[in-house]
Amino acid sequence: MDRRQVIRSTLASLVAARTAIGGDADGAGAGEPFPPGFLWGAATAAYQVEGAWRQDGRGESVWDRFAHTPGKIKNGDNGDVACDSYHRFGDDIALLRQLNLKSYRYSIAWPRIQPVGRGPANAKGLDYYQRLTDAVLQAGMRPLATLYHWDLPQPLEDAGGWPNRDTAERFADYAGIVARALGDRIGHWCILNEPKTFTSAGYWQGTHAPGRTEPLAFLRATHTVNLAQGSAFRVLKAANPKLQAGSAFDVAPMFAATASYADLAAAERWHKFQNLWFVYPALRGHYPEGVLPADRQADLLDWHAGDEKIMRAPLDFIGLNYYSPWLVSDAPQGNGIPGLNTRGQWAKAPGVTPKTDIGWDIYPSGFHDIVLRMAYETGNLPIEITENGAACNIGPDARGAVHDAPRVAYLQSHLRELARAIRDGAPVRAYYCWSLMDNFEWAEGYSQRFGVVYVDFAHGQQRTIKDSGRWYATVAADNRVLPA
Ligand code: FCB
Repeated sequence: MDRRQVIRSTLASLVAARTAIGGDADGAGAGEPFPPGFLWGAATAAYQVEGAWRQDGRGESVWDRFAHTPGKIKNGDNGDVACDSYHRFGDDIALLRQLNLKSYRYSIAWPRIQPVGRGPANAKGLDYYQRLTDAVLQAGMRPLATLYHWDLPQPLEDAGGWPNRDTAERFADYAGIVARALGDRIGHWCILNEPKTFTSAGYWQGTHAPGRTEPLAFLRATHTVNLAQGSAFRVLKAANPKLQAGSAFDVAPMFAATASYADLAAAERWHKFQNLWFVYPALRGHYPEGVLPADRQADLLDWHAGDEKIMRAPLDFIGLNYYSPWLVSDAPQGNGIPGLNTRGQWAKAPGVTPKTDIGWDIYPSGFHDIVLRMAYETGNLPIEITENGAACNIGPDARGAVHDAPRVAYLQSHLRELARAIRDGAPVRAYYCWSLMDNFEWAEGYSQRFGVVYVDFAHGQQRTIKDSGRWYATVAADNRVLPA
């Protein structure tokens, strides 16, 4: 690219970001049908729902260790029992059917397959996921399996964790075992869930397992994860060339805090670092330009010659998780990440927006904006919305009914924005609500309820479809979003 082209593309990106700020949601997408064959689903993750943490040879994960460490999780909660889905997955699948859903996104727990993160497969662990998958298929649903939703085997963390390059090879071995056992019946795979979140919360901010606060280790973790993603992609394809593989990336539109050039530039840097850091390595074989100085790649990331080939993977689709936007301002003092041009700070978005019970901003038009932006960034790869939803902690009334109107409003407004994004050209083919049911919400324990199905954790795990579940079932049946 010559200098003029560079300037033109930078300006185009900045204009795209500015235009996004003015997104107008009024009346958009109301009642519009989704494309024929659009897939409606719901999502869960192994550690958040399975329980049975020591059953049938399952090993310890970083989340078991973290949750069993006093002070890490709200109310001292842990995932030892969770929703007991290890024993009740038949009930979960019956609920999915009652909700008229055609796809279930669930994850496979690495420590059930390789209890110490390496070595031969644990037959009982594989058997569980075979039974679960067969039940999903028998119910007429499409499985979407996530290979890694954050449960790293603890012995691999003891050996250095994600900052250790060897973890990428361990992950490829694990992926191979799973792909050979399940690749014949699971046609759609998410390799990683939210690589940005598990590396930054786990190794930089320390709020998630394994709870480390080491900025350099965090950067190296991001690179190992990119190597792991590319390797696992090839391993999956080797097991079955027909299967489709992508990852679930958590994305957020980055709005500049002011119209100053410094803040706009900071928002663009942050878009690259947060939204593209695990996308470009796969699709283009390099990190987004302008963040990582070329002469620091080796020492900051532990980059080896040839890594560009390992991390490159022509993903078949891209999964997007959207909850909230960010507001970015320039931070001349830096933000503690060594060596990178990520100068900038991000904060909860427009203070004026309402929030869900977990404190996340509700900003539906941001959904439209980031879906379009990611369609552009990925050259219009098929998109599946792998997560979207709201924490709303309303419990049952005296009759046992759960009237969670704020969740209905959240889902409705976001789906209307998704319809608008599709109308504007985004190739979205699926939507998964987070979550099928209330579950273990990481550092928040059981205090935050994201389910369209209520789970009574204290009394026998009873499941009750909430008003939002009933409403979502009509969306799935009609393939359109009608007023609540
Ligand atoms: C996402 C996670 C998912 C869930 C939702 C609320 O970051 O991928 O497991 O906890 O947030």
